[in-house]
Amino acid sequence: MRSHYCGQLRDANVGDEVSLCGWVHRRRDHGGVIFLDLRDHQGIVQVVFDPDTAASFTLADQVRNEYVLNIKGKVRHRDAAAVNPKMGTGTIEVLGKELVILNKADTPPFQLDDYSSAGEDVRLRYRYIDLRRPEMQEKLRLRSRTSHFIRRYLESREFVDIETPILTKATPEGARDYLVPSRTHPGQFFALPQSPQLFKQLLMMSGFDRYYQIARCFRDEDLRADRQPEFTQVDIETTFMDEQQIMALTEDLMRSLFKEIINVELEPFPLLTYADAMRKYGSDRPDLRFELEFVDVADLMQDVEFKVFSAPARDADSRVVALRLPDGDRLSRKMIDDYTKFVAVYGARGLAYIRVNDIEAGIAGLQSPILKFLPDDVVLAILQRLGAENKDIIFFGADKAGVVNDALGALRGKLGEDLKLYTRPWAPCWVTHFPMFEPDKSGGWTATHHPFTQPVGDMEEMLANPGKTLSRAYDVVINGHEVGGGSIRVHQMAMQQQIFEVLKLSQNEANVKFGFLLDALRFGAPPHGGLALGLDRLIMLLCGSHAIRDVIAFPKTQTAACLLTSAPSEVDPQQLKDLHVAVRKPA
Ligand code: AMO
Ligand code: AMP
Repeated sequence: MRSHYCGQLRDANVGDEVSLCGWVHRRRDHGGVIFLDLRDHQGIVQVVFDPDTAASFTLADQVRNEYVLNIKGKVRHRDAAAVNPKMGTGTIEVLGKELVILNKADTPPFQLDDYSSAGEDVRLRYRYIDLRRPEMQEKLRLRSRTSHFIRRYLESREFVDIETPILTKATPEGARDYLVPSRTHPGQFFALPQSPQLFKQLLMMSGFDRYYQIARCFRDEDLRADRQPEFTQVDIETTFMDEQQIMALTEDLMRSLFKEIINVELEPFPLLTYADAMRKYGSDRPDLRFELEFVDVADLMQDVEFKVFSAPARDADSRVVALRLPDGDRLSRKMIDDYTKFVAVYGARGLAYIRVNDIEAGIAGLQSPILKFLPDDVVLAILQRLGAENKDIIFFGADKAGVVNDALGALRGKLGEDLKLYTRPWAPCWVTHFPMFEPDKSGGWTATHHPFTQPVGDMEEMLANPGKTLSRAYDVVINGHEVGGGSIRVHQMAMQQQIFEVLKLSQNEANVKFGFLLDALRFGAPPHGGLALGLDRLIMLLCGSHAIRDVIAFPKTQTAACLLTSAPSEVDPQQLKDLHVAVRKPA
């Protein structure tokens, strides 16, 4: 049916008789001549019909946007005046001779060339039309090239691709599980995997040495632009490698990938401890495309009368932090008010600031609502510590450390984006030495990464002081996005039991949840470790997109629904009965 792709035709094809298949992108009637822009996955070509070919001219007159056609014709040069340098095929056109309508189309719900006016709901409802757009085609093709490259890279390094179950038992990654009721075991449920974590550990115990899988993971959690309930990991596990080796391998994979896919040479990834990341940027996934670091000033604020600052300054769990923004004079009063509202969302009770108008003039050269609350020597000491210069604006955050980190960390990211503070387009880094445990709501501990991660240091220290224990976990961060994470795992039973002890997981509970893993640890488990990359996030970055929805063919909405298929949906009562499930709807 087809001799050439529409988007491929060039000057060299002039004179060729071609047979093209594709969709009508646009139809124009120019007084007696009809122009059809015919589109396929390679691009668009202009086809001209004139009344000399009466039958096909009549048909061409009837076609509408998105009709599917087969056109036979001859390639010719365009008139000089008609050359379109923006089109790959812009120097030629096809003189149409025969036209077959392969299928008609209703008027599409949005124009393919000006989709931006269509809401995302409409685009998702008619995703198959949205995906016809060259931009979306290119994203999914880049995705395909990316996973293909990763497979090749890992296969050439002796990694074995092994599939792990989708119908399985709950895996502890910290989100809610998606459950599937069992028909054959009344009242019992499978969980969809939040990751292949436990299976990949078992595969190391089986002696596979190096495993990988491009694995679908499922997590029922609150969605954001870079989170979907169903997403894909490049999941990796190895035996007898330490964190330096695993990180070096991952880094080489990522640098090769960026070079191959978007021709970018990433710098070597700097290492940052979790503690440093939090101290300098208030975030464990700092955006290092720009400098802008927090400076702690609690020691200077201990004795000021202004309670907003002195109370947190004296409290060990709190922080008083300054953030110096050079050329801050470009921020209007209104923008500062907006940033104050922005940080309030993260729990900040205010956003104090000082404008530096004339540093030579001392206190008189400053402008700020808080000057009247602070002694001059304290203000001058702060300016000195920050290296303040004219036109700076200095923001302050004072509160519990968590609030200050969240609020000023988010403010830092927003300033970077709003004010285009970026000095480099790509800034990857490793974040290491995470806390092993974090306090949970009930006053106990939960595992920061997952409970199969090895702590740093010996067991006595960990048992004596869980809150101070660090873990052998590492995250890879690019431009403020956590694109991957992993750890060295526990391979000895005694250590695993002591971790469960801290988590207050009884022997019995541990056996019910992970008995199979604990069993496996008894039969010669080798030292092992690995990591998982978030493939959707990685591709989002490679494409320059802002949401992973853009790089997933059929994504879910913010409320975890599929608008295309209307899933989730109610099911036949008989199906529920077979599954021994009764539904109780919220009142
Ligand atoms: P973790 O939970 O950090 O680790 O997940 C690894 C990476 O997966 C991506 N990711 C997501 N992407 C899109 N939507 C989501 N809801 C989502 N959740 C996570 C992130 C993240 O860095 N088993 C461990 C890995 C290991 O220890 O080897 C795990 O799953 O980019
Ligand atoms: P107030 O005394 O509450 O009017 O606050 C005086 C200034 O301090 C205002 O600019 C507030 O935005 C700011 N402020 C109040 N609470 C905090 C806080 N916890 N951290 C930083 N700035 C604050």
